[in-house]
Amino acid sequence: TRNGIEFAVADLSLAAAGRTQIRLAEHEMPGLMATRREYAAAQPLRGARIAGSLHMTVQTAVLIETLVALGAQVRWVSCNIFSTQDEAAAAVVAGPTGTPEQPQGTPVFAWKGETLQEYWWCTDRLLQFPGPDGQTLGPNMIVDDGGDATLLIHKGAEFETAGRVPQPAPGDDPEYTIILETLAASLRRDPQRFTRIAAGVRGVTEETTNGVKRLYKLADAGELLFPAINVNDSVTKSKFDNTYGIRHSLLDGLNRATDVMLAGKLAVVCGYGDVGKGAAEALRGMGARVVVTEIDPICALQAAMHGLPVVRLDDVVDTADVVITATGNKGIITAAQLARLKHNAIVGNVGHFDNEIDMAGLARTPGITKTEIKPQVHAWTFPGGRSIIVLSEGRLLNLGNATGHPSFVMSNSFTNQTIAQIELYTKPDAYTRQVYRLPKHLDEKVAALHLDALGVRLTELTKEQAEYIGVDVAGPYKPDHYRY
Ligand code: NAI
Repeated sequence: TRNGIEFAVADLSLAAAGRTQIRLAEHEMPGLMATRREYAAAQPLRGARIAGSLHMTVQTAVLIETLVALGAQVRWVSCNIFSTQDEAAAAVVAGPTGTPEQPQGTPVFAWKGETLQEYWWCTDRLLQFPGPDGQTLGPNMIVDDGGDATLLIHKGAEFETAGRVPQPAPGDDPEYTIILETLAASLRRDPQRFTRIAAGVRGVTEETTNGVKRLYKLADAGELLFPAINVNDSVTKSKFDNTYGIRHSLLDGLNRATDVMLAGKLAVVCGYGDVGKGAAEALRGMGARVVVTEIDPICALQAAMHGLPVVRLDDVVDTADVVITATGNKGIITAAQLARLKHNAIVGNVGHFDNEIDMAGLARTPGITKTEIKPQVHAWTFPGGRSIIVLSEGRLLNLGNATGHPSFVMSNSFTNQTIAQIELYTKPDAYTRQVYRLPKHLDEKVAALHLDALGVRLTELTKEQAEYIGVDVAGPYKPDHYRY
């Protein structure tokens, strides 16, 4: 704590460097800045205590400062151990007008290269807003990316309701063991903490495909403890951030990590959903020979229509130069397949969690050694001398090896986030414990806010044309089932 602001960041003296980058990002985030201006006077988030778990990057800093500008009290952590930009974290703590010595900004608990224990410690700190008489208060709103903050609250409340103490069992997943230990420590201090937090939360707005999947599972089981808005499936999020964002940041990550020439190489993209489409296009743009794996006939057919061979990983793994996973599923590359890759083949993941690549199985390979080439770039050498290069230890390489998606596309995602926060916070009675999407007119509004910056001149419908196609002149222009 300094000047009344709690924080755990790598180095507060990086604040000035972070602030310069934030200023540049603000210019590239017209939707978010317009939203700031639109709601500055009304302060719709006054009284909101927002706990955010989302990659602590420069772009996220602009989101955080937007939420603060609309009246919210905010605490923040990263949703990935490698994705923090330390200068952005420092600048957010210092605040737009503060300094490292006299910080005036927002509490952040995030640094690049956390251990998993530290990661879950940060997530636990996230949920402790300072309250009266030295007490702590829970958040009343959550911004989540991948659902880890939501998971901690739900797991904690589940144990409290059952009156059980979380007890790791031998053979549990190592990260799950850490979550249980974090919960056990917290419940020893305060046995009703998570139940109280859950009761006080008006809602969560979820950023990514994998987090959204967790929310629908909870809602289907009747176990969701508060309303949720699925930000990912706004068209102006998943059809832009997931695709065009990765088209940019996958190459950024590959280049910064390895600087290997991609032209002519055989690149396998596993999963041809929104993210996989962007990944494949980027690699093809570099002149790589791109092939795709899919389980879904529709996505497989799409890949084929784009001229991309659809193959099975097993059939190409011996000749692949680069393998990128983008499925959001687990066990996509097995340890046995990793062992069959060519010398210095590159393996990386752009799906959300690290279980897409069997890193645990790789580490168990008899006689294998791991050498750090530079942070987040490792050569794993098999007995006999053949190596493979694994990026970000199998976690999101575009955030671990680079700085994630560029500002302009994140402005679309984060304008959706901000609108969703205002929606859930200001209309608590309009939503039940279900998962909702933002209405199409707001999706269209987010897009509209980004047109001027690109010099787009939209054609206006005439009244007759609008009637002819059955829409309002002011939109929405498409039915909800339209797929873009
Ligand atoms: P999506 O559902 O559109 O695409 C995933 C695709 O993988 C689907 O088409 C599915 O059929 C396919 N798939 C599933 N299992 C497979 C298997 N065993 N083999 C081959 N293909 C398989 O999801 P989206 O939006 O593309 O997201 C994918 C992942 O990327 C998620 O984990 C999401 O959270 C994450 N994500 C990462 C971002 C980043 O910055 N790195 C940005 C946005 C999302």
